[in-house]
Amino acid sequence: MKHYLFGFALLTLLMAIACFYSFSYKYDQWVNSNTIIKQQNNPNDLGERSNFEEDKKNCSTKIFLRKTQLLKYFGQDIKSQEVCNFGYFNNYLKKYGQFAGEGVWYAPPTGAPSVQSDFYPSGCSFMRFSRGDYLLSECFEMKKIRKILVTGDSNARKLTQNMIQLFEDIAGKKCKEIAFQKSGNDTKYFDVPNLNNSKILTKPCDFGFISCSSWRYQCPMDYSSNGKFEDNVTIEFIPMFRFVDLSMQLSLDERNATRRIGLLSANNKLEYLLKYYLPYNGFPDMWIFSPPFHHESLHHNLTVLKVDINYLINIMNSFVPARTKIIFMADARKCNDKLPKHILQTNKQQMNVSMNERIDQMNRLWYAALRPKIDNSKNWNVLLDATKITCPFVCTWHIDGAHYVGVWYKLMSEYILSILCHS
Ligand SMILES: *[C@@H]1O[C@H](CO)[C@@H](O)[C@H](O)[C@H]1NC(C)=O
Ligand SMILES: *[C@@H]1O[C@H](CO)[C@@H](O)[C@H](O)[C@H]1NC(C)=O
Ligand SMILES: *[C@@H]1O[C@H](CO)[C@@H](O)[C@H](O)[C@H]1NC(C)=O
Ligand SMILES: *[C@@H]1O[C@H](CO)[C@@H](O)[C@H](O)[C@H]1NC(C)=O
Ligand SMILES: *[C@@H]1O[C@H](CO)[C@@H](O)[C@H](O)[C@H]1NC(C)=O
Ligand SMILES: *[C@@H]1O[C@H](CO)[C@@H](O)[C@H](O)[C@H]1NC(C)=O
Ligand SMILES: *[C@@H]1O[C@H](CO)[C@@H](O)[C@H](O)[C@H]1NC(C)=O
Repeated sequence: MKHYLFGFALLTLLMAIACFYSFSYKYDQWVNSNTIIKQQNNPNDLGERSNFEEDKKNCSTKIFLRKTQLLKYFGQDIKSQEVCNFGYFNNYLKKYGQFAGEGVWYAPPTGAPSVQSDFYPSGCSFMRFSRGDYLLSECFEMKKIRKILVTGDSNARKLTQNMIQLFEDIAGKKCKEIAFQKSGNDTKYFDVPNLNNSKILTKPCDFGFISCSSWRYQCPMDYSSNGKFEDNVTIEFIPMFRFVDLSMQLSLDERNATRRIGLLSANNKLEYLLKYYLPYNGFPDMWIFSPPFHHESLHHNLTVLKVDINYLINIMNSFVPARTKIIFMADARKCNDKLPKHILQTNKQQMNVSMNERIDQMNRLWYAALRPKIDNSKNWNVLLDATKITCPFVCTWHIDGAHYVGVWYKLMSEYILSILCHS
């Protein structure tokens, strides 16, 4: 619990700092303008809103500060829009070969991140959940969702933490930590019976104590008015900093020949999860798959990335049971203005493109690999094009160039739950 609280205290502090800075931007001209909708076609219309070069990009996504502007944009009552489901986003990928990214932000009163911020895709809308809202527990009951797993890097961890907080906000009850991996080399967390003489091997993780540990929380779902739903939902985070994450492997007992006793090799962390940990502990009902992007891009060229992406999708397809919904969460934009200079230089040297260009390149590899897998009867589901929709506020919503303020992750969690409940 302590680690969790510390993480939140830190996040809150960083959020406070970020909010302080974002409010100090020159929003005045933007706020006073009553022609924001017209300005949509003016590539320079973001210039006065932010001091950051990154934010001044020619973004297709815009931010509206007033409800009237939003209504005008939609030309109708927004509420009449259908609630987004996986079909909408999956079909978009099938049809256009990319993730859906059209839409507008509503972020009153200043464009700074807040609980009022909301993204409106052009083809559907998201449901927001309120405190005591039993729609969520009903939907989890109906769809038999009892376990959510999130794998990925520090952004995935922040998503998980904010999703837990969202569950707490809605239920008005605290979630409880039920397992915590003491450090990246604590193999007890991943132990399964009958490994025989084979051993779990770990490598040191360089991304900090909080990001290197796996943990599990239990959140109560028994807040419906009739007290009918008494179950919990388990939310687990498992760090995976690379596509082929070698921080954990299973070293087979060679004396017991693999074929003879049916031991399966596990050459990386994902393989261990798929072949040992998850079959023993139970596969999740929803697996938010948020692969690392910038960690990976520093290490490999696009040829290698393409091979790894296909390997990863294929091994997931071989082991994940049909009932598990895999939700692919794409990476959002980085803010170059807030990243340390040496990181930018290293990136430039190693990749020969900016970090955001590289993320776009990698996203296109994922789009191409996932497109043929998208079929409503199968596991894979995709979401929004996060790089597109973070374009108009990439730096104002960032705390350090690589991580966003909590509101972003909370919104994404809420949208995922809304989509899930309407699919
Ligand atoms: C800016 O966006 C407009 C509208 O989408 C597009 O026509 C134009 O080519 C873009 N300009 C640049 C420099 O990308
Ligand atoms: C495990 O990792 C922690 C933190 O990195 C380190 O202090 C400890 O010595 C390691 N333990 C072993 C057995 O390697
Ligand atoms: C093979 O595994 C079994 C089951 O754990 C064990 O009893 C046996 O000693 C192993 N064989 C050798 C040669 O190590
Ligand atoms: C739900 O979680 C709470 C707190 O961890 C626990 O006391 C309770 O027994 C759990 N209920 C079920 C049905 O598992
Ligand atoms: C360990 O050995 C037992 C007995 O030979 C076997 O049934 C079991 O499958 C082995 N464990 C794994 C993980 O393969
Ligand atoms: C990509 O990296 C791999 C492994 O380092 C190397 O063998 C290959 O030649 C590289 N390809 C290109 C196009 O740079
Ligand atoms: C980097 O990009 C430039 C411009 O496209 C190109 O001339 C150069 O060869 C590239 N360098 C490497 C190492 O790929």
